[in-house]
Amino acid sequence: MSQLLVRGGRSLTGEVAVQGAKNSVLPILAATLLTGGQVELRGCPRLRDVDASIRILKALGCGAHWEGDSLLADTAGLNSCTVSDILMREMRSSAIFLGAVLARCGEAKMSYPGGCELGPRPIDLHLAGLRDLGAEIQDSGGVLRCKASCLRGRELILSLPSVGATENLMLAACGAEGVTTISNAAREPEIVDLQEFLNACGAGVSGAGTSTVTIEGRRPLHGCAYQIMPDRIVAATYLCAAASAGGEIYLRNAREGQLATVAAALREAGCAIRTDQKGMRCICRERLRSVRPVRTAPYPGFPTDAQAVLMAALLRSRGATVFEETIFENRYRHVDELVRMGADIRVMGRVAVVTGAEVLHGAPVRCTDLRGGAALCVAALAAEGETSIAEIGHIDRGYECIERDLKTLGAEIARTEMEI
Ligand code: UD1
Repeated sequence: MSQLLVRGGRSLTGEVAVQGAKNSVLPILAATLLTGGQVELRGCPRLRDVDASIRILKALGCGAHWEGDSLLADTAGLNSCTVSDILMREMRSSAIFLGAVLARCGEAKMSYPGGCELGPRPIDLHLAGLRDLGAEIQDSGGVLRCKASCLRGRELILSLPSVGATENLMLAACGAEGVTTISNAAREPEIVDLQEFLNACGAGVSGAGTSTVTIEGRRPLHGCAYQIMPDRIVAATYLCAAASAGGEIYLRNAREGQLATVAAALREAGCAIRTDQKGMRCICRERLRSVRPVRTAPYPGFPTDAQAVLMAALLRSRGATVFEETIFENRYRHVDELVRMGADIRVMGRVAVVTGAEVLHGAPVRCTDLRGGAALCVAALAAEGETSIAEIGHIDRGYECIERDLKTLGAEIARTEMEI
């Protein structure tokens, strides 16, 4: 088993390019099924979750292979509408394949993706929306059997702006007769990216980025070449890494427009953040200050995926910062690991209070989830001595090669095999 060894105390300097967005490429890979043709996804990150999506495409009879940093998918050969339980459980966002397979084949058989390390991850909104579009869905023993001889477009209203449900319903609606509107849709930039991809394939989708998305169904779709947007959470992680370790870094491709709340918190903490047309610069020369309460919320609010890395950056700040997690129940699992490094964090339900410590020290820690794992790296950069981070498979789900990027920025970090 691999681990990351980080020797803290070096400030960061230099420049890296931000990888393509995981949360954008996963729904787009499901969307390739709608085209029945060849798609080239440029700037596609090589991640465990992308590999899991490729395995699902292949199980459905489709082809996919890499050419450099492009992923070429060919979905002409689709010959199955069943995804096995093992493949579904590999990745929570596998649920997104339901809408696409149903739209393409008129039926789909898949199991529930299951819970995850962040707590229960229901898909009731996905299923209610698909039923409203005319799908018959039977659930027996966790296996979903879906049939839709004809999906019909209509108005769908989400009771909360779920990212996955919005995406799943956009895909199903592409195969529905007539027009579908999704009200109270999620507004995340990745939903805009999915719209842009679908439209590049010939679809008629509009409104993504606002609360109402409109889809004209049954347009003939074709393949295309498409550039995946940069990953705003990876960018947030590296900004927080620079804030934690100090120094000056430049992130090519990072877009401040998608990181407004994260940038605002880091500025309040004392970082200088400058943006130009090609990326973002973060300069941090002094001990950080605590910031006003950070409350996670759907976009454009503070991203739940950036909560852990900002918390890690503030562990040595002056004063105390309150975090409130409103999206997922179980999103403070990294806290116990940070406390091992000398952090002062009190958790009360959905609230965590971080009081800045004078020093952090290296410790053996383990990743509890993807962003919690990234937070351990961010904290380790500012800790005295060596931190060993175990169970880094979580990090590999979302970061192409976190140690390569942090090393490029001057960190002392290496991936090694653990001695058991
Ligand atoms: C996506 C992101 C994830 C991010 C999250 C919130 C991907 C692959 N993942 O996850 O990184 O943390 O958005 O920004 O894009 N809910 C229900 N019923 C449903 C669906 C969701 O109750 O049918 C609840 C969830 O339990 C959660 C909240 O809605 O509390 C938000 O979930 P959602 O926006 O759906 O997140 P994901 O799409 O799973």
